[in-house]
Amino acid sequence: MKYINLGDLEVSRIGLGAMGMSHGLTGAGTDDAESIRTVHRALDLGVTLIDTAEIYGPYTNENLLGQALKGRRDQVVLATKFGLIDHGGAGVWNLNSGPANIRAAVEGSLQRLGTDHIDLYYQHRVDPDTPIEETAGAVAELIAEGKVRHFGLSEAGPDTIRRAHAVHPVTAVQSEYSLWTRGLEERVLPVLRELGIGLVPFSPLGHGFLTGAVRDEAAFEEGDFRRGNPRFTGENFRRNMAIADEVQAIAADAGATPAQIALAWLLAQGDDIAPIPGTKRVARVEENTAADSVQLTSAQLERLAGLPPAVGDTHTEAGMRLLER
Ligand SMILES: NC(=O)c1ccc[n+]([C@@H]2O[C@H](COP(=O)([O-])OP(=O)(O)OC[C@H]3O[C@@H](n4cnc5c(N)ncnc54)[C@H](OP(=O)(O)O)[C@@H]3O)[C@@H](O)[C@H]2O)c1
Repeated sequence: MKYINLGDLEVSRIGLGAMGMSHGLTGAGTDDAESIRTVHRALDLGVTLIDTAEIYGPYTNENLLGQALKGRRDQVVLATKFGLIDHGGAGVWNLNSGPANIRAAVEGSLQRLGTDHIDLYYQHRVDPDTPIEETAGAVAELIAEGKVRHFGLSEAGPDTIRRAHAVHPVTAVQSEYSLWTRGLEERVLPVLRELGIGLVPFSPLGHGFLTGAVRDEAAFEEGDFRRGNPRFTGENFRRNMAIADEVQAIAADAGATPAQIALAWLLAQGDDIAPIPGTKRVARVEENTAADSVQLTSAQLERLAGLPPAVGDTHTEAGMRLLER
């Protein structure tokens, strides 16, 4: 495993997204023992960056990680997120990045994760009712107290990133970025590079779609967010299959798996980028982590650049409203 820097934070070039072990995807929560083995295998393979959020479950994903990391906390750059739960009463899926809410959130996350500090603490979505300066100031205080080590944002636009960074250095922005979701290349990525901020692409496998393993929209269980997602439904789903098929063809040409191609493409975009593919299975964490050694040729990169554009938004209408671009 190679290592890179997100700002001044060293992380493995490929991380592990833990969300799907407990939340949001079919099979979540069905086999915690295998999920814990997956975390341990990732650490054995040199993965350091592990990603969760208080909203995943809610709370159960942080609890699971707390259990998995007992005795191995020091090997991990542990990242979690606040801001999608209002601890003042409104509850889950209510934006609140006010200082008092962040204080309440951090104590819960620390307790569930079984640790005295969070290495990278992200605002999960920008809160239009709280000036980002107040949010950044609150995280800066937690950093001064040693409860948090680094500050991150998720799905924030260029203006928010600049304003936050002016209050306290932003170490990383975590946003959706993959072969079929490239919206941040034009406006966000240049700002990150100008300011020396790292990029953590989430859903780097397109929620599994780019691996070619997702072929039947009827297979998504109740609670799987792909069920109502515009890219995964109806005519869009069928049309997008051309993308998965082409990634599969390029994988065959490269002697790699489609998941490895999707990750190797992200790694080829710069050494300030550390994707966090999600899996709850040992075999897949081994496969995904091995993408670190896949070198794409310029002909393969060119073919990937020519993939057909994805059809459909990345989220439902309500979800799209929470994204800054
Ligand atoms: N900041 C945000 O707003 C935000 C939003 C979404 C996600 N995230 C973070 O990003 C992480 C990853 O995103 P994601 O889970 O949405 O999507 P992803 O990493 O693109 O894909 C995960 C899906 O692909 C499957 N998969 C993984 N490796 C595979 C392989 N080698 N072959 C075939 N299928 C494979 C997984 O199934 P199995 O688990 O069954 O292997 C799972 O269904 C999350 O865990 C979370 O930490 C952040």
